[in-house]
Amino acid sequence: MADAHPEGWHPGLRESATFDRNVIAEIQRAAREGIYDIRGFGAKRPVPHFDDLLFLGASVSRYPLEGYRERCATDVTVGARHAREPLELAIPITIAGMSFGALSAQAKEALGRGASALGTSTTTGDGGMTPEEREHSEKLIFQVLPSRYGMNPDDLRRADAIEIVVGQGAKPGGGGMLLGHKISARVAEMRDLPAGIDQRSACRHPDWTGPDDLEIKIEELREITDWRVPILVKVGATRTYYDVALAVKAGADAIVLDGMQGGTAATQEVFIEHVGIPILAAIPQAVEALTDLHMHREVQLIVSGGIRTGADVAKALALGADAVSIGIAALIALGDNAPEHEHGYRELGSAAGYYDDYQAGLDPAGISTQQQELAARLDPIEGGRRLANYLRTLVLECQTLARACGKSHVHNLEPEDLVALTIEAAAMARVPLAGTNWIPGAP
Ligand SMILES: Cc1cc2nc3c(=O)[nH]c(=O)nc-3n(C[C@H](O)[C@H](O)[C@H](O)COP(=O)(O)O)c2cc1C
Repeated sequence: MADAHPEGWHPGLRESATFDRNVIAEIQRAAREGIYDIRGFGAKRPVPHFDDLLFLGASVSRYPLEGYRERCATDVTVGARHAREPLELAIPITIAGMSFGALSAQAKEALGRGASALGTSTTTGDGGMTPEEREHSEKLIFQVLPSRYGMNPDDLRRADAIEIVVGQGAKPGGGGMLLGHKISARVAEMRDLPAGIDQRSACRHPDWTGPDDLEIKIEELREITDWRVPILVKVGATRTYYDVALAVKAGADAIVLDGMQGGTAATQEVFIEHVGIPILAAIPQAVEALTDLHMHREVQLIVSGGIRTGADVAKALALGADAVSIGIAALIALGDNAPEHEHGYRELGSAAGYYDDYQAGLDPAGISTQQQELAARLDPIEGGRRLANYLRTLVLECQTLARACGKSHVHNLEPEDLVALTIEAAAMARVPLAGTNWIPGAP
C-alpha cells in the first residue's frame, strides 16, 4: 500500500488496499502508453527475506569468540572440483555480473577497483569484457549469456572464471534488454549491433534444447580454457532443487543462485515482481540438492537477490551458501541514488532513494548511462574506494555475528544458529519459529 497521506488528507479519504495509489497510477500509465513498464532495480514488494530471521547468539550452552583477539576467517575457494586454478577469494562477497552497456565504463572500472581492494571478484555481463574492467579487476569472472554478445575465446582465456548464465532472479525465463539510447558506438561495436536501436537478447541459449547440452557447453568451455578456470552456472530461483541438481550433474564447479529480489538493468515490471521465488526460499532447496548429491561445499553455492548488510551475508552463509553476490547494493555504494544528485533525479521525475530508471540511460550519478558527460561524474577511484569501504563493513558485520555464535570461520555458521520471526520464513528457510522447535513442513 502506498505510504504517507497526501496534502489535505482527512479521515474521510480512504485508500483502497486493492487499488492503492501505485496501482491506480500504473493503470493510468498503461492506458496512456499502451505498453508494459520497463525499469531497473529489483522487486519492490515485500516478500519473506533475511530480516525475518534472527541469530541465536552464544550464551551458556555455547560460548562466543572475542571480537578483537580471536580470529574469524572469511576466505572462500570457488571451483576446486575441476579447475586447475580455482578462484581464491579473501571474503565471501562477490560483485554480480552487470553489463557494460547497462553500466558506464567508469562504473565497471570502479566495481573492479573496489572488489580488488578486498581480494574478491567482479563479473562481466551481457555485452562482453572491457579493457578497463580487466585491468582493474584482480579476479574477473566472464559471463557466457544466451545473447553471446561480446563472446570470444580470447576473453574466455583472459578470465579467472567463467559463468554460464541460464537465468537471472529478476527475470527467470526472460531475455535481456538494452534500449536504443544506451547503445553508443562503443557498446554497438562490442555487441555487433547497430547503434541506437533497442536490443532484446535471447531468453535461452541458441544451441541448447535441454540439460544434456549444458554438459556439452561446460566441456567446450573447459577445453577452450584448458581446464584452468572454474565454470559457474547461474540460475534464477524457480524450481531450484532440480535446476541445481541438473547443473551439478552437468559438471558445474559452482552454482550462482539469484532470487526474485535480484536487481536488473531493464526488465518488464510485471516480470520483476511476479516471477521466481525469494532467495530465502531458494537457498535451502539448493543446499538440499547439493547434499543429496554429496556435493555441498564441493560445488560452491553463491547466492544473490537483495543482499544489503553483513547480517544478510551471515544469514545466507548460515543457511548453507558459500558466498553471496551483490548488484544493486554495490551500485548504491558507488553513488547510485545519492542525495548529492537529488536535483538531477527531480528533473527526471524521480528522487534520491527512488530512482530505478536504469533503462533510460540518463542516470545523474553517471552509473547506468553511456552519455559521456554523465558518466564522467563518477570518478572510478573514488567510487572504488566507497565500494571497498562498503565491502569492508559487510565483512566486519558478518564476522561480528559469526563470533557471537562462537564461529572461527564464517562458514561454520549453520541453520541451527537461526530462528524465524514468521511462520512463512520458518517454512521457507527451514529453521524453527523463534521460541519453538517448530519448523513448518519438517518431517
Ligand atoms: C545494472 C544491472 C545490470 C545487470 N546485468 C546483468 C547481466 O548482464 N548478466 C547477469 O547475469 N545479471 C545481470 N544483472 C543481475 C545481477 O548479476 C545480479 O543477479 C543481481 O543484481 C543480484 O541482486 P541484487 O542486485 O539485489 O544484489 C544485472 C543487475 C543490475 C542491477
